Amino acid sequence: MMAPTIAWLGLGNMGMGMASNLAKKGIIKCSFIVYNRTVSRARQFQALNPNTVVAESAAEAAAKADIIFTCLGDDTAVSEIIDLIITSTTIKGKLFVDCSTIHPDTTTAIANKFQDAGAEFVTSLIHLLWNTYVFN
Ligand SMILES: NC(=O)c1ccc[n+]([C@@H]2O[C@H](COP(=O)([O-])OP(=O)(O)OC[C@H]3O[C@@H](n4cnc5c(N)ncnc54)[C@H](OP(=O)(O)O)[C@@H]3O)[C@@H](O)[C@H]2O)c1
Repeated sequence: MMAPTIAWLGLGNMGMGMASNLAKKGIIKCSFIVYNRTVSRARQFQALNPNTVVAESAAEAAAKADIIFTCLGDDTAVSEIIDLIITSTTIKGKLFVDCSTIHPDTTTAIANKFQDAGAEFVTSLIHLLWNTYVFN
């Protein structure tokens, strides 16, 4: 079985550190794609982590990955990115993990969208209070 491809969307203060840990500490032996709205941050990250590649859009990152992490600023950012991905690419069978701190109603709404699209979804809050929504 081939190792999955991972994508990380959102390289802010938290996302940068979490993605860096994944890239640097050798936990993953698979392809690692990063995306950030401000692409210069993604390029800066890639320069420090040559085992990663930069995607030009969230949809491109999601299309190429099996497991997609999001760590974005707020509810609007998460909803916008998820809607963009769902409307631009096929996500059936992919796993999405959201590390953003957002309202539970927003989490439920995106969980339903992922379920309708045939994807799996786990919300994984950074403060380690785990709420889990797993479908399929
Ligand atoms: N910082 C903490 O100590 C901490 C602790 C616990 C939980 N959290 C949660 O973790 C999440 C990330 O926090 P953070 O500190 O990393 O935030 P941050 O530094 O402000 O980074 C926000 C990230 O979201 C992206 N973003 C914001 N609005 C967007 C939009 N409309 N479309 C696409 N991308 C968008 C930003 O892209 P750009 O670079 O282009 O702006 C950036 O990558 C938040 O939900 C926060 O509440 C943070």
